[in-house]
Amino acid sequence: IGTGSLKEKLPFPVGAALNVGSLKNNTNYRNLVIKEFNSVTAENAMKMNALHPSIDTYNWTDADYLVDFAKTNGKRVHGHTLNWYKSLPTWVNNFNGTTAQWEDLLKTHIETVVGHFKGKVASWDVVNEALEDDGTYRNSIWVQKLGVGYIARAFQYARNADPDALLFYNDYGHEYSATKRAAIIKLVTDLKASGVPIDGIGLQMHTRYNQTDANLTAAITTAAATGLKVHISELDIALNPDNSPTLTYTTELADLQAAKYKFIVKTYNSIPKSQQYGLTTWNVTDADSWIPPTYNRPDWPLPFDHLYQRKAAYQGILDGVK
Ligand code: G3I
Repeated sequence: IGTGSLKEKLPFPVGAALNVGSLKNNTNYRNLVIKEFNSVTAENAMKMNALHPSIDTYNWTDADYLVDFAKTNGKRVHGHTLNWYKSLPTWVNNFNGTTAQWEDLLKTHIETVVGHFKGKVASWDVVNEALEDDGTYRNSIWVQKLGVGYIARAFQYARNADPDALLFYNDYGHEYSATKRAAIIKLVTDLKASGVPIDGIGLQMHTRYNQTDANLTAAITTAAATGLKVHISELDIALNPDNSPTLTYTTELADLQAAKYKFIVKTYNSIPKSQQYGLTTWNVTDADSWIPPTYNRPDWPLPFDHLYQRKAAYQGILDGVK
């Protein structure tokens, strides 16, 4: 399937979320990443629990490995994520501080991490998943301790620490919940209008082969209408969204998935060039997808199969820019 590579064929940056262990130990994986992509995101290595194991300790080992790999191989690095309600170190969940101490915790983490990678990480998911599907603010530890104003301040702390890094608000559900989509768009529009340094919006797009084209179009074009850069930041297309324990991979499903990849790429390619920050898949192959272990089901969400071979989905991506 296809000749050349995604990075040669696509008119915008194309990336994947990487597992540092696989990058270090799996030659097939590493070589495929080198060949196909020109942007990388750490799947887990830049989350707070990975980088900041205790209040005064940072562990840069895996994240630095990924950044060095990217530099050696000419890849852009997108940072994920400075602030999230999940994957927090235990000490944060247990932190017994005043409002001012919580603010300092947020500020220090962001400034230290962004400062450490200044000039090496091109862009950051500053805040990840602050909204619920019904459009309300998630009642995260950050909202509980600091109120929703922490979002604007997180962007400002990141901007101060590296004025050249592009700053994104990242979330999921744009394509399946019109209510959530409207809330996300309102959040980023209000941030921008009040002078908060936000450059882009990340559409995770963990989607499914039978998501409607109309919903996918609405997600992409509504995000683009903000004028912000748009990153399809965590794309994968599930074939088994109903969690069948016995489903098998068929050419029919593979072709439906290819058509959906094609549609997403085609729609993304139709937004203004200056807003196309790129498209990143969440993981590299079906063998390393987060979906089967998370939902305990078989699935095949990515453009490469368990043997690192290109699937119909890969051709679908190429067809999207023909
Ligand atoms: O590394 C430990 C291992 O030592 C331990 O034995 C095992 C037992 O649970 O856990 C392992 O850690 C897991 C880690 O992935 C590495 O595999 C965590 O439990 C697990 O929670 C973690 O899941 C990650 C999840 O985010 C939570 O951080 C997934 O790999 C990662 O793909 C997923 O990514 C998220 C994005 O950050 C945000 N958007 C949604 C996306 C998918 O959920």
